[in-house]
Amino acid sequence: MFKNLSLFLLGSGLLVLASCKEDTDGLAAPKSYPAIAETFGSKLNPTNLPNYESQTKPAYITKDNTGANPIKNEVATLGRVLFYDTKLSVNNQISCASCHKQEFAFGDTAQLSVGFEGAKTLVHSMRLVNARFSQEAKFFWDERAASLEQQTTQPIQDHLEMGYSGKPGYPNLDSLLQKLMAIDYYKELTQLAFGDEQLTELRLQMALAQFVRSLQSFDSKYDAGRSQVAKESEPFPNFTGQENRGKQLFMQIQGNSGTSCSGCHIPPEFDINLNSGNNGIIGVPSNPAAVDVNITRSPTLRDMVNNKGQLNGPLMHTGELKTLRAVIDHYNNIIIDDRNTNLDFHLRAPSGSGQQMNLDETKKQALIAFLKTLTGQAIYTAEKYSNPFPQ
Ligand code: HEC
Ligand code: HEC
Repeated sequence: MFKNLSLFLLGSGLLVLASCKEDTDGLAAPKSYPAIAETFGSKLNPTNLPNYESQTKPAYITKDNTGANPIKNEVATLGRVLFYDTKLSVNNQISCASCHKQEFAFGDTAQLSVGFEGAKTLVHSMRLVNARFSQEAKFFWDERAASLEQQTTQPIQDHLEMGYSGKPGYPNLDSLLQKLMAIDYYKELTQLAFGDEQLTELRLQMALAQFVRSLQSFDSKYDAGRSQVAKESEPFPNFTGQENRGKQLFMQIQGNSGTSCSGCHIPPEFDINLNSGNNGIIGVPSNPAAVDVNITRSPTLRDMVNNKGQLNGPLMHTGELKTLRAVIDHYNNIIIDDRNTNLDFHLRAPSGSGQQMNLDETKKQALIAFLKTLTGQAIYTAEKYSNPFPQ
C-alpha cells in the first residue's frame, strides 16, 4: 500500500488524483433511502437505477412521440413503482399491471379486463409495448386522449378501472395524491425524481408516461433481418421463404381500392397511419345493438404473439378475433355494416361493397408467418420492466 502511494506521489498529477479519490470514497456517503430499501429490497436500488433513458434502438426506428417529457431514469423509476402499485386503486386491489401484463407485452389475455370492483372494461386492454414509437400521439382505441401524459391518469379516474372518479361516494384524484404523499417510499422516490416530495397530477402523468415509453422491443427476427438489408423491400437473409413471401404480401397486397396492410400499419414501427378510418370492426362489447365507428387507432402490430408463440390476447378493440387467421379472414372479406359511416375508404371496393382480397391458403399462411416474426424476446422478462414489489 505504502509502496503504491509513493509511486502515485512520484507519478503524474492524474495518478495522485486517482489515489485521493479512492481515499475519500468512504466519506462521500450516498444519500440513504431507508423506505425504498425496506419496501423493495434488492429489486430497486436507488443508487444504481436501471437504464431507461438511453436504451438503444435500431437506426431505422425514427418515429417518436416523446415530445416535452424525455425519459430520465429517476422519473421512469417512480413511474415503474406507480405502474405496479395497487394503491392507485380505491380498494388497493388493481394496478396498471393488472390489465397490462409484462408476460403479454403489457396487454391482457382476457377479452375484457376486470376493474377494481370486479366490473369489466368496456373494450379490450391494449398492448403498451413500443407505445413511444408511433407517429400518432393520441391514445386509446378511439384516440380520445390527446397525449400519453393525458392518457395515464384517466384509468385512475375511471369509475370502472381504478375508481378515483370523484363521482358520488368515490374519492377524486386529489385524495389519491394525498394518500400517496403520506407513503414513505413515495416521499423518497419523488425526492429522487423531482428534488422534493410533492406529488401532483402532472408529475404522476410525467412518471407514468416515461415508464410506458420505456417499454421497447426491437430484438425480433424481423429486426435481425431488417438490420442486414438496405431497404425494407429486399428479402431478409434470416427469413424462411414463407416469411419473405408474407412480408412481401404485407407490404404489397392490395384490396379493391389499393391499400396494403402496410399502408395503415406502417413499418418498421408497425404503428397506425394518422389518417386511418375504421377497419370494419365497429362492435360495442357492452351493447350488441350499438356500433362505434370511431375506432381508428391500433397498437403496434409488433409483439402480438409472445416469445413462446402464444397470442398476447385476442385482437381488435372488441377482442372478438381470437387468432391471426381470423384477422386475415376479416380483411380478406370486409362486410360493411349500413351504419358504418367511417369505414376507411381503402377497404371499400369501387362498387361500394367491402374489400375482397381473394387470398388463397398459401398466402394467408405466409402473412401469418410474417406477423410472427415481429415478436421480440427481452420485453417479456426484462427485470427493469418487472414488478418491483416483493410478491
Ligand atoms: C381495469 C383494466 C385497466 C387498468 C387498471 C389500466 N388500464 Fe390501461 N387500458 C385498459 C383498456 C381497456 C384500454 C383501452 C381503453 C380505450 O381505448 O377506451 C387501455 C388503454 C391504455 C393505454 C393506451 C394505449 C394506446 O396505444 O393507445 C395506455 C397508455 C394505458 N392504458 C396505460 C395505463 C396505465 C398507465 C394504467 C395505470 C395508471 C392503466 N393503463 C390501467 C385497461 C386498463
Ligand atoms: C385502412 C387501414 C387499415 C388497413 C388497410 C389494415 N388495417 Fe389492420 N387495423 C386498422 C385499425 C383502425 C385497427 C383497429 C381496429 C379495432 O380495434 O377495431 C386495426 C387492427 C388490426 C389488428 C389488431 C391489432 C390489435 O392489437 O388488436 C391486426 C392484427 C391488423 N389490424 C392486421 C392487419 C393486416 C394483416 C392487414 C392487411 C391484410 C391490415 N391490418 C390492414 C386499420 C387497417
